[in-house]
Amino acid sequence: MTAAADTVTTIRVGRDREAYDVAIGRELASRVPAALPGARTVAVVRPPALAEFADAVVTALTADSRRVIVADLPAGEEAKSVASLTALWQSFGAAPLTRSDAIVAVGGGATTDVVGFAAATWLRGVRVVHVPTTLLGMVDAAIGGKTAINTESGKNLVGAFHPPAGVVVDLAVLDTLPDAQWVNGMAEVVKAGFIADPRILDLVEADTAGAGRPTGPHTRELVERAIRVKATVVTDDLRESGAREFLNYGHTLAHAIELVERFRWPHGHAVSVGLVFAAALAQRAGRLDADVAVRHRAVLEALGLPTRYAAGAWPALLDAMRVDKKARGDQLRFVVLDALASPAILTAPEPELLAAAYSEVAQ
Ligand SMILES: NC(=O)c1ccc[n+]([C@@H]2O[C@H](COP(=O)([O-])OP(=O)(O)OC[C@H]3O[C@@H](n4cnc5c(N)ncnc54)[C@H](O)[C@@H]3O)[C@@H](O)[C@H]2O)c1
Repeated sequence: MTAAADTVTTIRVGRDREAYDVAIGRELASRVPAALPGARTVAVVRPPALAEFADAVVTALTADSRRVIVADLPAGEEAKSVASLTALWQSFGAAPLTRSDAIVAVGGGATTDVVGFAAATWLRGVRVVHVPTTLLGMVDAAIGGKTAINTESGKNLVGAFHPPAGVVVDLAVLDTLPDAQWVNGMAEVVKAGFIADPRILDLVEADTAGAGRPTGPHTRELVERAIRVKATVVTDDLRESGAREFLNYGHTLAHAIELVERFRWPHGHAVSVGLVFAAALAQRAGRLDADVAVRHRAVLEALGLPTRYAAGAWPALLDAMRVDKKARGDQLRFVVLDALASPAILTAPEPELLAAAYSEVAQ
């Protein structure tokens, strides 16, 4: 299924009025104007570190006779704040940006999250195109329409569903992505492999060194396959009421680790431990074969991702899981596998079962 290097793959997300395309290829800045018909003024928002890459988008928009304003954001998580939103609203007001105008977010998941939320709130919603620049952004954050900022109360608690008008995945930007940031995103790619597309796991296992860097031989296929998994699930369940929960595979424990670590642990590292834990849980519940459970740790460790966490942290992690926003009432819910690519929900497992599963990731 790998497309030739110079071709563009298009994956549709959603249905009807809320549908949008994800274009995947190299040097794709020229795709941005076409995703925003009728927008006379376009605000391009990016962190300074991505200014050069974003300039190609600005040039493409200008060449298409759009008026462009450029707005800066802090790099990374620091951008997901009320202060950033206020600054963006001021830029949009000064432009001014009308209902028929649009916004383009160029950056990682933090950038697309906050710019997506700014787009959802400006004039009660204007169009946004995401140009994700990290692996996590490409396969996860930019797709699905979830936007958010962080507040004193926690991460991602304030946000909105605001599907983009388009997503442009320019693989050329990965050339500058640090390997560690790529590996962080690979946890979500591996997750997609386990819940829906085992070919991803085969690709990683066939060349673990290549899969551990953004310039590896299977980069395009890995990105495309992971996007397809997310696109399919999101299309079936746009507002997160059913199947979309499967995308949270590994995330119940991961969110707890992130909370205990006060969000200093990279998301992908927490997801990696969470995936091994979820596999152990399913195996101990008699639902998953040992070889599939073992495969979790093998694939993730081969990529250099952590698969263990502090033994003494279990009580704090359990408390954190109980208050996770994805718990329903006081019942803990876990996405588990009954087999490869066969996700299901395990509700309210016994405390002994949980502790036994944790013992497998404890160090
Ligand atoms: N909305 C969703 O559905 C969803 C899903 C998953 C994650 N997220 C969010 O995504 C965020 C994490 O995103 P992330 O991991 O992409 O990190 P990030 O956006 O914080 O970016 C990490 C760093 O990499 C830099 N960077 C980005 N692209 C680069 C490139 N091509 N070359 C060099 N440097 C580059 C950024 O400037 C930043 O300093 C979290 O806030 C998380 O909550 C959202």
